[in-house]
Amino acid sequence: MDIEHVRSRFKKHFDGAEGYVYASPGRINLIGEHTDYNGGFVFPGAINKGMIAEIRPNRTDKVRAYSIDLKDKVEFGLNEEDAPRASWARYIFGVCREMIKRGVEVKGFDTAFAGDVPLGAGMSSSAALESTYAFALNELFGEGKIDKFELAKVGQATEHNYCGVKCGIMDQFASVFGKEGSLILLDCRSLEYQYFPFKPEGYRLVLLDSVVKHKLASSAYNKRRESCENAAAAIRKNHPEVEFLRDATMDMLNEVKSEISEEDYMRAEYVIGEIQRVRDVCNALEKGDYETVGQKMYETHYGMSKLYEVSCEELDFLNDCAKKNGVTGSRMMGGGFGGCTINLVKDELYDAFIADAKESFKATFGRSSKVYDVVISDGSRRLA
Ligand code: GLA
Repeated sequence: MDIEHVRSRFKKHFDGAEGYVYASPGRINLIGEHTDYNGGFVFPGAINKGMIAEIRPNRTDKVRAYSIDLKDKVEFGLNEEDAPRASWARYIFGVCREMIKRGVEVKGFDTAFAGDVPLGAGMSSSAALESTYAFALNELFGEGKIDKFELAKVGQATEHNYCGVKCGIMDQFASVFGKEGSLILLDCRSLEYQYFPFKPEGYRLVLLDSVVKHKLASSAYNKRRESCENAAAAIRKNHPEVEFLRDATMDMLNEVKSEISEEDYMRAEYVIGEIQRVRDVCNALEKGDYETVGQKMYETHYGMSKLYEVSCEELDFLNDCAKKNGVTGSRMMGGGFGGCTINLVKDELYDAFIADAKESFKATFGRSSKVYDVVISDGSRRLA
């Protein structure tokens, strides 16, 4: 992330002035996919890629925002009816509105931002953007009175209310709470969390980007969520204690098999299995048993591809390629329909795996995949 680049663009677009600079990261997730909105567990970590924004209150009631990467400038007011049309600006507008709803007296400001989280790669560029502004507005207009849990919820509510994605809390939580060298085991119902130092001796974590961006991802995502809620509601009739699928077992799901659609059944089967896999991975990590961690990652990929149906040809290909190269664990990461696989690779296999994945991907799909080495980093912060 290049702070000087942001500073020089801000200066150029806003009368040579200087403001405050904030940053928030994207995230990876070791395991626990589509479990957050089912009240389950996730295992993310913040990464060394993210968003940087420079911000300066401008003593008006307007926000003037410049996207350095898109070279696009948008001005908007702070009332509900002022929502801008540009989708990137809606994230900033949404954060302003959600902060105002929580009692922060947000005023006009000038801002420029840039990022190095690849867009649509399943590394939560949008959460990085939301967390950056939530963190900044809290300091600049809210005297820091909103706590970090609520800042993560501001980002999530922005997705729900201004961007049409009924996401869980994982991405925003990881972005705000990230800690260098640690993954975060998060219970998405209680928001209890635990930092898990993650330095697997002899292994590396690497992302392979399929470079596929799916246009229908948000509606398909919301549909998955609905399926889970349908299944949980059916189970609840027999077991009133089941608030989310997190509380359900496969036996409970099987009791209602004939009452729900086949599709809803498959979605719930995946989620119930995935929540258990996060627990299994925690236990394995405590023993330093990376073979089990890896095996669970492959199981997750299978579930996401065949039961949850959020994979695509390119991701399945990259997963197979990992298997073929003896990679310890591999799976698609994030919401799905494109983005990256996350791979746990033994040091000595790394070079051959990456070379084979790149070459065979290009030969099969006629374009290049991208490789990102994972560096687990700190969450939202002020840089200057
Ligand atoms: C997206 C959402 C998250 C989570 C993941 C899937 O990244 O924003 O809340 O549901 O998909 O695990």
